[in-house]
Amino acid sequence: DLFSRIEDPAAALTALRAELMGRNDLPSWTAASTQPVFGEGPLGAALMFIGEQPGDEEDLAGRPFVGPAGRLFDRAATEAGIDRSAAYVTNAVKHFKFKPTGRRRLHQSPDAGDITYYRPFLKREIELVAPGLVVSLGATALRALTGKPLAITRVRGEVIEAPEGFRIFPTVHPSYLLRLPDPAGKEREYARFVADLAAAREMAE
Ligand code: URA
Repeated sequence: DLFSRIEDPAAALTALRAELMGRNDLPSWTAASTQPVFGEGPLGAALMFIGEQPGDEEDLAGRPFVGPAGRLFDRAATEAGIDRSAAYVTNAVKHFKFKPTGRRRLHQSPDAGDITYYRPFLKREIELVAPGLVVSLGATALRALTGKPLAITRVRGEVIEAPEGFRIFPTVHPSYLLRLPDPAGKEREYARFVADLAAAREMAE
């Protein structure tokens, strides 16, 4: 199949991490972060989830999706019948971008240049993990994968074929759910997110 020419994907993934760590042309803002946060999960996972970038807690822990958005993601995934430990979870951008404000570090969205910088790493990561289905969480991940600023509301739940041959299932980012002000709207959107994840799980089987 498409991925069979890679002889040792685990070793290649380790080499990819080393390559990022050794880069001397990282975006300047990455110097303020604690560490790069790489993906985690089994190679050949049915589902690969791609978020935006590590947040405050991820930056400190060195693991993706362990903060508030991660906890919401875990809950939704469980409700959708997905075992997180069987999925591969990563981000489009591997460092935490933030503005220091007093004692808090305020999340800053990665710009087009940041997304472009990390894209080769993300594409290689997908090639090596070789998942059944890639689920993009939010606009940044979708943009990183397609190179286009597509509106999630228009393409949500519709499978997009990437030129590299993998399938993308776009849905919203869990942080979007956390930001919704109205409790009823939040409930409704959360249920929709769970339904998306369940649809993705079925598609990947
Ligand atoms: N948001 C993301 O996009 N990724 C994380 O790992 C955490 C929060």
